[in-house]
Amino acid sequence: MRQPLVAGNWKMNGSAASIDTLMAGIKQGLAEVKQAAVAVCPPYVYIAKVADLAKGTKLAVGAQDINDQESGAHTGEVSGPMLKDVGCRYVIVGHSERRAIYGESDDDTARKFAAARKFGLTPILCVGELLEEREQGITEDVVNRQLDAVIKLEGIKAIGEAVIAYEPVWAIGTGKTASPQQAQDVHAFIRAKLAKLDKAVADKVQILYGGSVKGSNAVELFGMPDIDGGLIGGASLTADEFLAICRAPN
Ligand code: 13P
Repeated sequence: MRQPLVAGNWKMNGSAASIDTLMAGIKQGLAEVKQAAVAVCPPYVYIAKVADLAKGTKLAVGAQDINDQESGAHTGEVSGPMLKDVGCRYVIVGHSERRAIYGESDDDTARKFAAARKFGLTPILCVGELLEEREQGITEDVVNRQLDAVIKLEGIKAIGEAVIAYEPVWAIGTGKTASPQQAQDVHAFIRAKLAKLDKAVADKVQILYGGSVKGSNAVELFGMPDIDGGLIGGASLTADEFLAICRAPN
């Protein structure tokens, strides 16, 4: 059985003070989270602080991005060894905001995925279609292309040691959640695609759903057979709401 994972992507939000409050709230409620593994992905500058606050709890810490190089003249960038050094276990790669706002390509994402693995981090690989792409009926083509770039560079086995997050771009931050069936259809497509290459990898890999997940819709979404938890944006910034989502698989 795949363990559910609920990961909070805080994006570019928070302050030292608000993070103290958020972390205190999350830690207080963690004992009630029976089934899911839980992670939070703070902005770079707060990772060390959050890792420190998370010590001795079941809360894992992740980053929201990574540079594909180990070190060197890359002003403003952060490397895998640095993330590892400050206590990260996970790193999000290929988030749609990185792709759309910062022009990251499928190949850039694949290189970041490879760097994460090389430096001992678990990549959370984001895939998902734009609204226009869904309306054109090419959702599966888009997801295929995004996955293939990584499989081509790193091989299918590497997918089994990563996490996939299906995040339809039209559902991110919009309040428009994909219906459980819409999400399940794409998750099942992804798993079937992987199964053609390696059945064990397909059975093992956690596929998270992301896009306007809330306490009120998480039970239904996570109840679908191929949805193994969620990547949570806005609702991960409030301890009570995030914990409600974390308890959904209970
Ligand atoms: P929201 O939960 O705010 O829609 O964001 C989802 C997301 O992008 C998580 O990475």
